[in-house]
Amino acid sequence: MSTDHLRAQYEAYPYPARDPADERKRLVTGSPSHLDEVNHFVFGGRLDFAKPLDVLVAGGGTGDGTIMIAQQMADAGNPGSVTYIDLSDASRAIAEARAKARGLTNVRFLRGSLLELTGLGTFDYIDCCGVLHHLDNPPAGLKALESALKPGGGMGIMVYAPLGRIGVYPLQAALRAMTEGMTPQEKVALARRLIGQLPATNWLKRNPFLTDHQTSDANLYDLLLHSCDRPYTVPELVELAESAGLAVAALVEPARYEPATWVKDPRVLKRLEGLTWLERAAWAEQVCGSLTKHIAYLVRPDTLDGAVARADGAEVVPVLRDLDGPAMAKGLPPGGVLEADLAGTVVPLPLPRLAGPMLARIDGRTPLGDLHRQVAEATGGPLAWETFKTQFDQLFAALNGVGKMYLRRPAA
Ligand SMILES: C[S@@+](CC[C@H](N)C(=O)[O-])C[C@H]1O[C@@H](n2cnc3c(N)ncnc32)[C@H](O)[C@@H]1O
Repeated sequence: MSTDHLRAQYEAYPYPARDPADERKRLVTGSPSHLDEVNHFVFGGRLDFAKPLDVLVAGGGTGDGTIMIAQQMADAGNPGSVTYIDLSDASRAIAEARAKARGLTNVRFLRGSLLELTGLGTFDYIDCCGVLHHLDNPPAGLKALESALKPGGGMGIMVYAPLGRIGVYPLQAALRAMTEGMTPQEKVALARRLIGQLPATNWLKRNPFLTDHQTSDANLYDLLLHSCDRPYTVPELVELAESAGLAVAALVEPARYEPATWVKDPRVLKRLEGLTWLERAAWAEQVCGSLTKHIAYLVRPDTLDGAVARADGAEVVPVLRDLDGPAMAKGLPPGGVLEADLAGTVVPLPLPRLAGPMLARIDGRTPLGDLHRQVAEATGGPLAWETFKTQFDQLFAALNGVGKMYLRRPAA
């Protein structure tokens, strides 16, 4: 599909549909590009928030990723800036109005193609969410982004995944066969009529993971009327990354990609021992069936080793995301179980005995060494570091697995 066609679609239906007035009520957060998540999965938790971070949001749409990271950088006092680029003027107008409504002054808004970034500078972090799978040549798009990455930098991307989108592609083909020459608005009207008539046997109708198209025309267009949309399995995503000289550092949330999340039988799991983490992720995707998209953090191979933060020292600081640690601690019996909802499947997360006292004290500033002392004191110590650390690692695995805990290292 030509760039002109793509542009016309997003001029008619800026995606996702957003009202700048809502900025007064809430900040839309998500993945990729939540600042703590980026720090954890791209920079090993080592980001120094006092140093400017140069961010590019490629195909920024109506601004979700741009507004989130720009707001989080402003809140953290980071003196860097976010460059937004998109082909669509209508989308950019909405994103700009959202930034204005928040009083954000750290965003530069540009109209243009991510395929032509020359002259814009280089970036520590690049967000490209929901764009590559719509390009004629996704490897060329990713390579163009890689060329704009500073040494030591990384990227957060989202591409569609095939299995959780079962039913989408046959219906896209069916609509394509009957909408030639129609305006975007006429296509939406026809698609709505068809959706209203679908037999019970239709796979989209039977697919519980996709409901967005019911809420807005922009979502419907993106799901069913896009004429350029190719999903990626995990191995295909790895190949895409490698084609651009990049490696997959992480897939989020990690628990979705862990076979043991979906299958408990030890005999089955034993057969997977010895696979690489990406082979296990590919297996999990085939078995769980619910992945509608992949959110991946990519880095160059020379920084792959230190990309993902590890809880390997007393100076490491745990950070909670969208969780009130003290409130959670109150309702948590020793050895309690937390339940996480992963696309409709409730996954039990067994927590260690000291989870409550730890959660009550995790505030995004306290390093593990201090947390150990505080927990020992609160529980009437003594508490060996190894015992504390084993239990912290369990808590971390459970919460990081569902995107609720990250790690930071204090600036050197
Ligand atoms: C599905 S939307 C995603 C928007 C945003 N990244 C998000 O996740 O909310 C895709 C966006 O990519 C833009 N786009 C597509 N091809 C592009 C290109 N070559 N250069 C810049 N933007 C592009 C479209 O105009 C559209 O706004």
